[in-house]
Amino acid sequence: MKKPRGLRISGNWKMNHSQAETRKFFETLSALKLQNGLRIEIYPPATSWKIATEMATKFHALRIGAQNLHFEKSGAFTGELSALMAQECGVSLSLVGHSERRTYFGETSSICAKKIAFLLSQKFEVLYCIGETLDEREKNKTALVLKHQIEDGLLDGFSEALEKGQLALAYEPVWAIGTGKTATTEQAEEAHKNVRQLLWDRFGMEAASRTQILYGGSVKPDNLEALLKCANIDGALIGGASLDASSFLKIIQTSAQILA
Ligand code: PGA
Repeated sequence: MKKPRGLRISGNWKMNHSQAETRKFFETLSALKLQNGLRIEIYPPATSWKIATEMATKFHALRIGAQNLHFEKSGAFTGELSALMAQECGVSLSLVGHSERRTYFGETSSICAKKIAFLLSQKFEVLYCIGETLDEREKNKTALVLKHQIEDGLLDGFSEALEKGQLALAYEPVWAIGTGKTATTEQAEEAHKNVRQLLWDRFGMEAASRTQILYGGSVKPDNLEALLKCANIDGALIGGASLDASSFLKIIQTSAQILA
């Protein structure tokens, strides 16, 4: 089927996989053949950046990203990593604002805006994550939460990056992450449509229609197809099911079939 913005499949490994496991994952992936319009990304822990970027060179359109980077170039920020350090390992894209960063590390949308601004200035590509908690959904606040996360996390100056695809979004309802509860296709498509409308209102038609919006939250090989068939869903950000190379391969095959 026609997907005007192509499809992007992103695997977020979180705090999983040793260097040996990373190597094994990419060896298993070696059968992979990618097709036009399908872009694959893996976000491993920083200890695996170098191995992953080296092993990913074999595959056309497979990119390696960071899960979190600081908004300063360098300095007294114990435990943090900078974009320049990631670049040294061949990494040139990053997640920003994943719900686990927001929940466990107090990351706000305004901090996200600083991170995105710095990363874009360093020619990084950014996948900005947004999404509501269960409590917010039950109180009918989903639309409002997404509006605030877009208003505070995205600055006016990001419009060119959105138009060029340097900045993309991932909608991940927090209640669906790691819980086995996926949003229904109706819930997901409704939120994606809403996010695209918010981008349109703020950044204009060009940026809104070009920006890839990925869905995330308990995506598995068996629920992926229905989600990717929704008009406003341009890919998936996948945690648990991206850790196992054979399940990740299935996900890639399903995505390729949709594009065929
Ligand atoms: P999950 O994680 O697929 O394990 O729910 C998704 C994410 O956190 O990006």
